[in-house]
Amino acid sequence: MKKVIKINTAGLNTKKFTIKLVEKRKIGIYSLGQGKFKVYEMTCPHMGGDLCNGMINKNTIQCSWHGYLFSLVSGNFIENPSLKGTKSARIKSLFYDPQNSEDENLSLKSIDYKIIDKNLILEI
Ligand code: FES
Repeated sequence: MKKVIKINTAGLNTKKFTIKLVEKRKIGIYSLGQGKFKVYEMTCPHMGGDLCNGMINKNTIQCSWHGYLFSLVSGNFIENPSLKGTKSARIKSLFYDPQNSEDENLSLKSIDYKIIDKNLILEI
């Protein structure tokens, strides 16, 4: 059964990422400014790493498990820095096509919200 969660936006600074524990779930809130936010599950879409241990740098988060980098603005996969520079050296096989990697389709799982009276209202 879903619960309605209310989070006051007053403490959420623009262009900052805030991690909260709500109903035993870790969620990340990125404030885009002008009353707009992105709310994410803190589980990496690659293999389930805990993004709470990730490295946040301006508007990106890097998973601590395999280094995948995601945009906090869009939630989209940006790159896997550990493979940077090796993509052209990687060989296409039956199971892997470096020009059409499924990793590029990964994105952070976002949570829908409403804003009522300067509060984020989530149903989780
Ligand atoms: S589980 Fe996050 S990069 Fe692999």
